[in-house]
Amino acid sequence: MAREQFGICAEPSLHGYYLLFNVLDDNNDYIRQALSRLPALFDKYADRFSESNLTGVIAIGANYWDELFPKAKPKYLKPFSEISSDDRIAPAVNYDLYIEVRSDRADVNHIVAGKVCALLAESVELIEQVRGFRFLDGRDLTGFVDGTENPKGRHRREVALVHVEDDEAFSSGSYLHIQRYRHNLNHWNTLEVKEQEDVFARTKVDNEEYSSENKPLTSHTKRTSIKDSEGNSIEILRQSMPYGDMKQQGLFFVSYCKSPEPFNLMLKSMIEGDEHGNFDHMLKYTQAETGAAFFAPSLNILAELMQ
Ligand code: HEM
Repeated sequence: MAREQFGICAEPSLHGYYLLFNVLDDNNDYIRQALSRLPALFDKYADRFSESNLTGVIAIGANYWDELFPKAKPKYLKPFSEISSDDRIAPAVNYDLYIEVRSDRADVNHIVAGKVCALLAESVELIEQVRGFRFLDGRDLTGFVDGTENPKGRHRREVALVHVEDDEAFSSGSYLHIQRYRHNLNHWNTLEVKEQEDVFARTKVDNEEYSSENKPLTSHTKRTSIKDSEGNSIEILRQSMPYGDMKQQGLFFVSYCKSPEPFNLMLKSMIEGDEHGNFDHMLKYTQAETGAAFFAPSLNILAELMQ
């Protein structure tokens, strides 16, 4: 059975380093070699700094996949398409490569991110780099705990990894979506705590879920709790982290899933809302500035790139 990349289902860490690259023309052979060597690089540093719980993920942009791996493509891989409704917009930005480095030490992430950049070297352009950090007890910068309803234990793998019976060639890979959200915390902080709680339909300090009948249709958790035609919950595995400095801050949203569909349905429900116009009121206080779709192949597929 194919092995997944270890960072996909890893538990939350204290620090994250996200690197987004575009590949410069005619460097595909070099990139194939380099990507196939990255898992060993992650292993080496995970071993050297074993207390830091280092993991990594390598993912390939939907637009770049065919160039890098012309032989075959994950069944549902498609570029992120921008969606909008009124003044709410989820923009699309294309990147060729995504590298995620996570651990409990910012210095170790810095070393490993540096090695990744050195390996990819002149063959790529680094378009964006985001350093994420754990905030308090796993909260978003709005002050609300993020990740509570994430799948747990073995269920994380069922949600996040492509099943063999669905797409054998790409089993144990994962469809990845990212969006860098920039918060307007000045605006957010004008709200009373109860008004903020209504936006998430959870209490702030104790992180308790509102009862179903008390959840506003415009709350973030209502808009993202979606069921299929048989009444089963549609799920994603979120691995987002807060980022920022004194000038701008927000959430680097990251989700992994066995299919791109759940993320697309949730985002549509947030932005377009229901048939009565109930959109996600969280979007009044934060704005996505990027958005992209990738596939994080299994370690077996990454090893094949070398051949
Ligand atoms: C739940 C924050 C974007 C999907 C939550 C919760 C918070 C939160 C605080 C409640 C606790 C939890 O269960 O994790 C944010 C922030 C975002 C963001 C600050 C961006 C600025 C997104 C996006 C999606 C998403 C883009 C999917 C397209 C979900 C899901 C849940 C959730 C599925 C669990 C809902 C439930 O079952 O109760 N989010 N989120 N979130 N969010 Fe987000």
